[in-house]
Amino acid sequence: MIRTENLTKGFAKERGVFALNLEVPAGKIYGFVGPNGAGKTTTIKILCGLLKPDSGRAFIGDLEVLPRNIPEIKRRIGYMPDIFGVYEQMSVWEYIDFYGAAYKIPAKKRRQRIEEVLKLTESTHMIDYQMTSLSRGMRQRIGLAKTLIHDPDVLILDEPAGGLDPTARIEMRQTIERLRALGKTILLSSHILPELSSVCDIIGIIYKGKLLVQGTVKDITRDLQEKIVINITVDSDITQAKDILERIEHVEDVKVADINDLQCTFSGTREQVKSVLKLLMNNGVIVRWFAENEADLEDVFMNVTKKN
Ligand SMILES: Nc1ncnc2c1ncn2[C@@H]1O[C@H](COP(=O)(O)OP(=O)(O)O)[C@@H](O)[C@H]1O
Ligand SMILES: [Mg+2]
Repeated sequence: MIRTENLTKGFAKERGVFALNLEVPAGKIYGFVGPNGAGKTTTIKILCGLLKPDSGRAFIGDLEVLPRNIPEIKRRIGYMPDIFGVYEQMSVWEYIDFYGAAYKIPAKKRRQRIEEVLKLTESTHMIDYQMTSLSRGMRQRIGLAKTLIHDPDVLILDEPAGGLDPTARIEMRQTIERLRALGKTILLSSHILPELSSVCDIIGIIYKGKLLVQGTVKDITRDLQEKIVINITVDSDITQAKDILERIEHVEDVKVADINDLQCTFSGTREQVKSVLKLLMNNGVIVRWFAENEADLEDVFMNVTKKN
């Protein structure tokens, strides 16, 4: 639904985006992650038709982002910029209504849409608030509400949780979950990885304008984890289990984590993990729990950026 082909826009060396191939299938949530200055906003602006690439192509569905398609693209996408101006003297209602009018939604229909988008963003109670009186978290919700006013299928949200406190971040996550349930395709950016990663189906990590990795959260954490860590709980003698583990090929380190728990660092392949379990059991160890430690996405991110 959202796609780029060798998308390039260079401002200076390592500043901009370079040969970016991004792909967001319909109905999926894509987390576009990278540190400040990585090129997220540049990519997003090109996707929304606000910035012209040097080369490469960008698509929203079957429509290429080209000047002649931009009016139609604007109808299809909802774009929430990282920093957006608000008309301070307006009320929440007037603010959203203003955008509704800009999208040429008839006045009667607008009223109904405003109610719907406020409900979706759990902001109904704010309808008569002045824009100036909103906290950062409230402002972000109203920003999202106005982004939804024309009921776009594709949402492009630049740092939607930027600067939000933990509670507001959780609320933003819940709103995104509701949008997922409506079948929206969502690209959201963040410079803090775990922030919204739990709602994302796919993660793309960008650094210095290049997409380093792209894939499902699970695949990425697996591929990029340097060593496999296995958590094991035994119901038999723990020292015996430890001794057996230490003699297994590719087992690098075994730590006693708790009275029944072991943590084992393994440098073999994922296929070979199975043989560790087998060997333990064949040697009479009673295994209650045996599972790979899922790498923290943040660790993965640090590893990828360090390597590059
Ligand atoms: N209009 C511009 N002119 C010059 N450099 C720019 C311009 N816009 C962005 N950049 C540079 O391009 C890089 C990527 O910026 P940006 O896409 O905003 O990153 P991000 O959103 O990931 O923080 C940064 O180094 C930024 O300074
Ligand atoms: Mg940015």
